[in-house]
Amino acid sequence: MILVTGGAGYIGSVTTLALKEEGFEVLVVDDFSKGHRDLAFGDRLEEGDLRDPAFLEGVFSRYPVEGVLHFAARSLVGESMSDPEGYYDVNLRGTLNLLATMRAHGVRRFVLSSTAAVYGDPTEQPISEEAPKVPTNTYGETKLFLEGALRRYRDAYGMGSVSLRYFNAAGADPRCRTGEHHVPETHLIPLIFDAIEGRRKHLTLFGEDYPTPDGTCIRDYVHVTDLAQAHVRALRRLLEAPDRCEAFNLGNGDGHSVRQVLQVAEKATGRPVPLEVGPRRSGDPSRLVASSRKAQEVLGWVPEHGDLEDIVSTAWAWYIKRFPAD
Ligand code: UFG
Repeated sequence: MILVTGGAGYIGSVTTLALKEEGFEVLVVDDFSKGHRDLAFGDRLEEGDLRDPAFLEGVFSRYPVEGVLHFAARSLVGESMSDPEGYYDVNLRGTLNLLATMRAHGVRRFVLSSTAAVYGDPTEQPISEEAPKVPTNTYGETKLFLEGALRRYRDAYGMGSVSLRYFNAAGADPRCRTGEHHVPETHLIPLIFDAIEGRRKHLTLFGEDYPTPDGTCIRDYVHVTDLAQAHVRALRRLLEAPDRCEAFNLGNGDGHSVRQVLQVAEKATGRPVPLEVGPRRSGDPSRLVASSRKAQEVLGWVPEHGDLEDIVSTAWAWYIKRFPAD
């Protein structure tokens, strides 16, 4: 049985579906602070908080867990700067508890949701795994700390792990069973849809004076279904050889500017996006594009939904299903 923490969240729910389609039995653990009950697709569900060791002990005592995919975390850059303690508490304390319980039960396969935020504002593009890691926010720091802890735990305790550094997760399950539903929403694509649907007055474009061709920030948008497939591959790799400790970037290797995303969204929806150009959002690097060569070579991972059109149109289909117009 595979334990998926945060399995009722965005990437966790898509990955749960992918695991089940590959024949894995899935136990979802979620505290529903961010996740949604109707998006918990595991064969089994346990509701609880990873900061509670007694809860974790109960879960690992009751289920024959072979491996853990750990999505549960707080992941908003801005919030991590105003509430660092909350990020240390959930991301560090929660994860260290989880690893301690895994050790106590002899479970040695762990896949960590990591992030491009570990690189901070990198000078090299596309970014390889070896690029300097100088996070510029608490969120990125917590994930970088955990990656380091996993190296120590492998050497000291034989804990096997794969850290997956997502770039900009986007899109939705092509069968529209799940997708993005954050409260509050801070991500570009769903906010564009909110503006199109009149749920907000306009989308604020955060700065058009960046050193990029059209002046807006460039990001590497990667389809959530492709991210899910990378998790299945990482898990299989650990099931074959549990003593590894590796990290992989997950992106398409293609950068798209905010203006380009807006254009694709207008085309996919056939609707104009009410727009206002605002100042830069603090902490936004001008360009983040992944080299995912290592994931392709070592995991055999090839993104199949890399087109921005595909990403935006699956996201739109999910959005209108999840948030029907009044
Ligand atoms: N943007 C806007 N207006 C908005 C929202 C976003 O112009 O209302 C722009 C941002 O400035 C950025 C781009 O759209 O240039 C994408 O922004 P998102 O908030 O969707 O995503 P980020 O690139 O900020 O965040 C992603 C991941 C984080 C990760 C971070 C690393 O979601 O988990 O990359 O920098 F930490």
